[in-house]
Amino acid sequence: MVAYRDMWGRGTDSYLHVMYERLALMKELLSEKGSVYVHVDYRVTGFLKLLLDEVFSSDDYINEVIWFYKTGGVPEKLGFGKKHDTIHFYVKSPTSAVWNPLKERSYLMHKYGFSNIEILEDKHGRYTLVNCRDVWDIPALRGNQPERENFPTQKPEALLERIIKASSGEGDLVADFFCGSGTTGAVAERLGRRWIMCDLGRFAIHTSRKRMIELQRKLHAEGKPYRAFDVHNLGRYERQWWQKAVLKDADGEHRRVVLEFYKAELLPEGNGLLHGRKGRAFVHVDGIDSILTRDEIRNIARAAREAGAKEVHCLAWEFEMDLRLICHELEAAEGVKIRLIPIPREIMEKNRKEPPPFLEVAVLEAEPVYQTEGKKRVVDIKLTKFMPSLAEVPVKELEALRERAVKSGFDFIDFWAVDFDWHDSKPFEHHWQDYRTRKDRSLKTVSDASYDKYPKRGKYTACVKVVDVFGCDTSITVKVDTRK
Ligand SMILES: C[S@@+](CC[C@H](N)C(=O)[O-])C[C@H]1O[C@@H](n2cnc3c(N)ncnc32)[C@H](O)[C@@H]1O
Repeated sequence: MVAYRDMWGRGTDSYLHVMYERLALMKELLSEKGSVYVHVDYRVTGFLKLLLDEVFSSDDYINEVIWFYKTGGVPEKLGFGKKHDTIHFYVKSPTSAVWNPLKERSYLMHKYGFSNIEILEDKHGRYTLVNCRDVWDIPALRGNQPERENFPTQKPEALLERIIKASSGEGDLVADFFCGSGTTGAVAERLGRRWIMCDLGRFAIHTSRKRMIELQRKLHAEGKPYRAFDVHNLGRYERQWWQKAVLKDADGEHRRVVLEFYKAELLPEGNGLLHGRKGRAFVHVDGIDSILTRDEIRNIARAAREAGAKEVHCLAWEFEMDLRLICHELEAAEGVKIRLIPIPREIMEKNRKEPPPFLEVAVLEAEPVYQTEGKKRVVDIKLTKFMPSLAEVPVKELEALRERAVKSGFDFIDFWAVDFDWHDSKPFEHHWQDYRTRKDRSLKTVSDASYDKYPKRGKYTACVKVVDVFGCDTSITVKVDTRK
């Protein structure tokens, strides 16, 4: 078998296993009218095809599409230039799949004949329209194209347009579970389809989010419809895999490993909340599968005070929103300094011995700004403080960046948005947003929404979401009182 290794060093058998699970789940989620297009690398297309036949069936296999491009690809030292990719096209059911036949242009090489078919002309010459074939000549993206997002594996919109138009109708739901720069969502939105996109890369999600917002702005300016969307963080599976495969599911082992990397001493008699000691500070290590919440942090601060500590370090994989703000009150009430520290994902790296830096969570603070316009009270939000978490920064750049982050934290904001009437149970509405683009690096620190859509004067909650230049999200809520 081919000696294929992925980023975890897992071989072909493991790759097949991982892909089998994903494809089976995709099939389960797929509508009876739906289709699946699987675009794969030439190194794995062979065994992926067999896997697809296993999950679907060879009767559901409709086309092996060859996406042919003259652009892109580098000349080979040995072998022929690689100028095509393969896309396997399956349906859930050949009798009920949506199918909209598409036409493509076929340019005429000679002048005569074809008296009974329509001949058209564009800047490239005379052509006829023929039924779309399974070899697609679509240029790969080049550096200067406007749709370019600086995402290394970005696909051209024309490629996705063909797929989405052929196999879905308006209002249908299109999903891309490996969305990269968000090409599928952008094309689906433009063509009036609903969409879901997933990716395990933070940069991919960030690029896709900005791309969708930019598209919404464009559609809005053209008076065309578009939809609100939200970003959810569901992925813990890198961590879950680590817990299962390396730590053998033991939570105690997780705490021991984290404390070891943090260079803290394990307290074998820990009281359930204080698990370690580093110098004079106590250390809490939150569970591998949980979020550190307000209630927990209250109990931890109290436990630390009762144990006579002046400082407690809370290490967690995830933190509930607004936790930093609550810590200000707790520090004053309990007389204990609280540090919130995300557990760095590098500790999961294979053969990792050196401890990675443990850096505090981002600090974000904002306040409402009120104005009266006529009889109306209008609201905006002013960012008053931002200090990014430097957890994603390469160690050698850390010192220089730390200094800059303390001095001018706003420089590290790439995107921020406000939902002026936020509710815990509702998706975040991008009522207002600002972000830097490649051309325009400026960014407002006070919104200019003049928000006036509150049903009546009273108390409301706004939510402010910041995405920093490292792609990390930080959100806080801000109390708004329009009677003020
Ligand atoms: C080839 S790129 C997709 C490019 C995309 N079509 C575009 O136009 O930008 C593949 C993406 O899959 C993501 N990915 C890889 N393994 C994944 C997994 N197991 N779950 C979710 N996303 C994954 C990668 O982070 C990467 O962004």
